[in-house]
Formats: sequence, structure tokens, C-alpha cells
Amino acid sequence: MTSQISQATKKRILSGAKPTADSLHLGNYIGAVRNWVDMQAEYDAVFFIPDLHAITVDFDPAELAKRTRIVAAQYIAAGIDPDKSIFFVQSHVPEHAQLAWALNCITGFGEASRMTQFKDKTQKSGADAATLGLFAYPTLMAADILLYQTDLVPVGEDQRQHLELTRNLAQRFNTRFGHTFTVPEATIVKESAKIYDLQNPSAKMSKTGESPNGAIQLLEDPKVAAKRIKSAVTDAGTEIRFDAEEKPGISNLLTIYSSLTGKTIPELETEYQGKMYGHLKVDLAEVMVEFVTPLRDRTNELMSDPAELDRLLAHGAERAREIASVTLAQVYERMGFLPSLSLAGVR
Ligand code: TRP
Repeated sequence: MTSQISQATKKRILSGAKPTADSLHLGNYIGAVRNWVDMQAEYDAVFFIPDLHAITVDFDPAELAKRTRIVAAQYIAAGIDPDKSIFFVQSHVPEHAQLAWALNCITGFGEASRMTQFKDKTQKSGADAATLGLFAYPTLMAADILLYQTDLVPVGEDQRQHLELTRNLAQRFNTRFGHTFTVPEATIVKESAKIYDLQNPSAKMSKTGESPNGAIQLLEDPKVAAKRIKSAVTDAGTEIRFDAEEKPGISNLLTIYSSLTGKTIPELETEYQGKMYGHLKVDLAEVMVEFVTPLRDRTNELMSDPAELDRLLAHGAERAREIASVTLAQVYERMGFLPSLSLAGVR
């Protein structure tokens, strides 16, 4: 009873992360995944893997399937609890594509043409090389959000314009067809900690960095992760202190250390006063092994039992559909579609 009450008063958050790499890296974990894990306690959370969005650019089917599984397993291993949160794969919930179509039909062509991500992505190869799917990326994203009557959408700064469009579409629909959608707020999350490339600490850690040594892949051998820490680029001088300008390499290592242990940067500075860069690296390498090992083991365990992983994702999709189907039914009715008894039965 009490849990029902608190559930109703909790705000709903929703976010998604595309399955575009063979493993999450440390920057993804510290910058984003961990925030999701923490938010589960305070919010009614919906998290999903937008695989429909992943096919808006060039893709390989076998790769997509593999990556979707890995990302799902890594999120669960990292602490997304499929009982607490609703966690699912977008293509398992057909209402996303269905609502997206309805939204496409109330979105202006010019309005969609002004999306800066589309413009950026098509700048090099030209709009003719892009697909209609890429053009409609933002309306599919709006559907993701509006289906669940979402209050808050924690996303990075790069998604701000997509959120603005989502709010506009929600208001437009509500005005024209009657109140149907919660108008969501963007909560632009300043990454709790930005992690930089270990070989080039002026660039963000990414999956496309120049050197493989620049990033720590969460699925790689913990020994390799330790080696990457030990071979990280450091700065001139010997003092261990946080100074992003003068000492980007050491500062990055301190940020990682602090993020994984909960010790503050000043605490670490005190602890390493008079010590050498090498000491810091050896200790952090050890911290890294302790962090990566259980995460990797749990991910591999999930990956080795695909039936169990599928069951967890099916459970998530069912819970998602319970909400999404109600919203879509309202949308269809208000837009004037005749009720379909046969479709209602198939659900
Ligand atoms: N566009 C988001 C990104 O690239 C991913 C995404 C798809 C998303 N649908 C969403 C994020 C809905 C938040 C809410 O990061």
C-alpha cells in the first residue's frame, strides 16, 4: 500500500542510450550510467535502449543485435535494477514507432529541418545521403518520451533542442486534440564528472579516440585496464594536484580516482603530498581492477545466459507496454482513428 502511494508521488524520469559500441567505456559509466543507477531510488525511472534510433545511420544487423545485448547486460550489471526501474529495448514496444508516425504528421517539415543534429550529421555527406529515418529521429525521440507521461528527461546538453521540440509537440497536440501528454522538463545533466582520454587529456574519453590506450573499455581484461592507467600520459612537474589547465593528465586521474572511491580530490591531494606520479598510478590501477572485475564478471554472467537476459528484457517491455498502450490508445482515439477490435485482441 505505502509503496503504491510513494510510486504515485514520485516523478517519472526517462532516458535512453544507443547501442553503438561493443562495450561501454569508463567515461560512459562515470558520466552517465552511474547517474541513472542513483536516480532509481528517487524517481519512477524508465530506461531503454533506442535500437530503432540506431538504424537511422549506417549499421550492420549482426552488430546491432550483439551490441544491444551487451549494452543491456552492462546496464544491468552496473546496477539498473529491472524490478525497480522499467528497463527495455525500444523495438520491443511497437507503440514507439506508432506514436512517432502520428507525431510526424503534426511536425512541420521546416521545423524538422532546423534540427542542428540533423544539419551537423548531413553537413559532410549532404542531405541526399541521409535517410528519412535520420530526418525523423527527433520525432521518434519525442514519442519515446511522451508515451510514458514523463516529467523529467535527464540528457546531455547536445539533446536540448530535441527536448524543446518534444515540449512543443506535446503542447501542440494537447491544444489541438485535448490534454493528452505531460509536457516534460529537460534536466540537462552536467556530467557529474567528465573523463578525458588517457593518452590525450584535452579530448573526452570516447569510443573513437586515436589510441586504444586512451579509453578503458569496461569489458576488457582488468589487467589491460590497469596497464592503460599505468601508461596514461602525465604532465610536466612532479606535484600531484588538481589543475585542469596546467596538469590535465594528473587531474583526469584524480577525477577517476575520486569517482571510483568516493574520496574527494582535496583528500587525495593530501594523501599524495610528496609522493610521485607513479605512486598514484599504481594505486589507481589497483582501484580500477577492483572496480572493473565484478562489473565484467556480472556482465559476462548475463551474456552467458541469453535466455535469462531475454526474460528480463521481456519483463521490461511488458511493463513498458502497459503504460505506452494506454497513451497510444488515447492519441489514436483523439486523432479520429476508429477503434480496432482486432488489434485490441492481439495486444
Ligand atoms: N538521442 C539520445 C542520444 O543520442 C538517445 C535517446 C533516444 C533518448 N530517445 C531518447 C534520450 C529519449 C532521452 C530520451 O543520446
